Amino acid sequence: MWPNPLTINGQKQKYTTSLADQIGNTPLLRLEGISDELGTNVYAKLEYFNPGLSAKDRIAAHMIEKAEKLGHLKPGGTVIEATSGNTGLGLAMMCRIKGYRCVLTVADKASKEKINSLKSLGAEVVLCPAKVAPDDPRSYYQKAITLAKEIEGSYYSNQNFNDDNCEAHYLSTGPEIWEQSEHKITHFVCTVGTGGTISGTSRFLKEMNPNLQVIGVDAFGSVLTNYFKTGEYDMSVAYSYKMEGVGKTIIPDCVAFKLIDEFIQIGDLAAAKRARKLAADEAVWGGHSAGGALEALYELKDKFGPEDHVVFLVSDHGSKYLSTIYNDEWLKEHLESKAYLI
Ligand SMILES: Cc1ncc(COP(=O)(O)O)c(C=O)c1O
Repeated sequence: MWPNPLTINGQKQKYTTSLADQIGNTPLLRLEGISDELGTNVYAKLEYFNPGLSAKDRIAAHMIEKAEKLGHLKPGGTVIEATSGNTGLGLAMMCRIKGYRCVLTVADKASKEKINSLKSLGAEVVLCPAKVAPDDPRSYYQKAITLAKEIEGSYYSNQNFNDDNCEAHYLSTGPEIWEQSEHKITHFVCTVGTGGTISGTSRFLKEMNPNLQVIGVDAFGSVLTNYFKTGEYDMSVAYSYKMEGVGKTIIPDCVAFKLIDEFIQIGDLAAAKRARKLAADEAVWGGHSAGGALEALYELKDKFGPEDHVVFLVSDHGSKYLSTIYNDEWLKEHLESKAYLI
């Protein structure tokens, strides 16, 4: 568990000495209106309460601490990551706090806000085309690998294949949800990108309650659901979509498919509309993926009964999507005008 931010060496403090102390211990909010509507108990884990406004602060802090402990990262070193934005922001923040250089390769479909916020925190952003295969040297994955070879003293945190990504959530998100739900959680609904959040959190929760059901939420256009169902990596099912952070064109090691009981794909438009409704009705201003997770809950509502306690994850904050899903013109042009979109 992360330390209680207001308790340092057992002493209650009125101030904090590091932003890193503010990571974790995010609220679990019971949503009364949605619980009534769906006839079950619904809670949102609000990860935008982290200082970088997303769940990824947890993994950024943990991956850097582990790299330091193992001697992979030394003073004056450089942290490199391929990121759609949120992990980058967490890493950029931790690098500012700890004095490292931060170089991020980012797919060019990421929102302007995300890219500018990375730069604001001093990260160097290398934009890469989103519409190329992951093994293409121009892809943001391959570019990160190339840069890690070129830059001396660099640590490539490689979130898709780094156990410390899952471990961060096993050590913090899982225990927090278990305690906050008063051990009642029956279903955990979570979007899947690297898989770190769902895998680490579910591993802890299933250790506490082996009957817990885990629902992975994927994007239409991602290869993960097909892999879950068939065991085959098939790029022919992949196509470009707008939901950032969710779904993949690779199969990350971090996705613990065995811990996931069901996978569901959600479309860009349905996720965007649900995120906007969540903000308008409940004042919970989440990102596109939070809308995807909640939409999954609506689509699977017949699975949940009055005795169930369903927790979904709000991975990041809606302010990161002001130029996209919370912008009427963007929504019309990119999603609502496309008749084939779900
Ligand atoms: C907004 C958002 N939602 C969901 C996810 C998926 O989380 P994970 O990578 O832990 O599977 C990400 C990952 O980047 C994200 O940025």
